[in-house]
Amino acid sequence: MKRTIAVLPGDGIGSEVMAEALRVLKFIAAKFGHEFETKEGTVGGAAFEKFGSHLPSETLELCSASDAILFGSVGGPINEMHKPKWIDCERNSILALRKHFRFAINLRPARIYPDMIGISPLKASVIKKGVDIVIVRELLGDAYFGKHNSFERDGKRVATDESEYTEDQVKTAAHAAFKTARQRSKHLTSVDKANVLTTSRLWRQVVHEVAQDYKDVEVSDMLVDNCAMQLILDPGQFDVIVTSNMFGDILSDAAAALPGSLGLMASASLTEAGFGLYEPPGGSAQDIAGKGIANPIAQILSTALMLRHSFALTAEADAIEAAVESALRAGYRTGDIYDQSEKQDGKRLVGTTEMADAILHELENHCAVKKKEKGSLATV
Ligand code: IPM
Ligand code: MG
Repeated sequence: MKRTIAVLPGDGIGSEVMAEALRVLKFIAAKFGHEFETKEGTVGGAAFEKFGSHLPSETLELCSASDAILFGSVGGPINEMHKPKWIDCERNSILALRKHFRFAINLRPARIYPDMIGISPLKASVIKKGVDIVIVRELLGDAYFGKHNSFERDGKRVATDESEYTEDQVKTAAHAAFKTARQRSKHLTSVDKANVLTTSRLWRQVVHEVAQDYKDVEVSDMLVDNCAMQLILDPGQFDVIVTSNMFGDILSDAAAALPGSLGLMASASLTEAGFGLYEPPGGSAQDIAGKGIANPIAQILSTALMLRHSFALTAEADAIEAAVESALRAGYRTGDIYDQSEKQDGKRLVGTTEMADAILHELENHCAVKKKEKGSLATV
């Protein structure tokens, strides 16, 4: 297969973790006989420095001419937010990209394998069943894209963010969620705040209308505050969660903490036609940027999602996911998932590149085993 990929490393840890993801991609291309042409573009603060814009037209053109977008992260250090380079950086870059290409659906899987519960901050008794959740987040509605306003009234400052949902936006998210649930355990939880918000009442109505097309999927509603609590008390009850943009942003960070770190969470943003942008939702982590200690797993797993969703390369995506799992099982830990108390059981604190080395090593093993299996099947 021959594909062109727009690579946008962005800010902070973006370029470090992207470099490792590209090594994995290169390995997959060589092993499975694909040609992935990667073309790098600038975005965020990095683009602002070079072009005076957080999303230069060169970058948009590059993305339009590509088969998928592999995105790193954008945003500046908290204490530099007042600098022009960082003012409105996220709105002007990643949110503008989502809007421009109409990335309406965002998939965020969070998973802990039952024998790796040691890396979760939750008690083993709470996650004994393991955790395997996909959050389907609506990505183009809500307060994110409503009018933002700040003004003075009676001499006091006031700020407003308008939140809007159309029934079509909810329908799109609901269809994506029901389809995802259908491929898994056929259990969908729709999360809203229908006891207070009008947008949530519309959300709930439309989700149940769409449910008529998916009678094999069991759907239940949950209020967002309760969902936040349930994710910590009993995450094993969830399979697929569908929710609005803002709730999805918050709940997906909470869900990412279950496996131990945002550094393990990948995401896919998809248009209705299947064009995709793949990014780790963990942010630019400026506090650890440039130190070689960031966890590359989220970026590597986002690359696997790209292979699966944009290119339908299931075996390749499975191979990467299995290699990540094996590297974690073998005890490799970046700082974000390293627990001092585990030192005795042979866990190894490693940097960004060493973690990717471990994954590449496991990938090599995985491919060798698969080749052997295929060979032996062929001789049967
Ligand atoms: C995410 C991020 C973004 C969001 C930011 C960077 C605008 O937190 O993808 O979860 O809020 O959507
Ligand atoms: Mg977020």
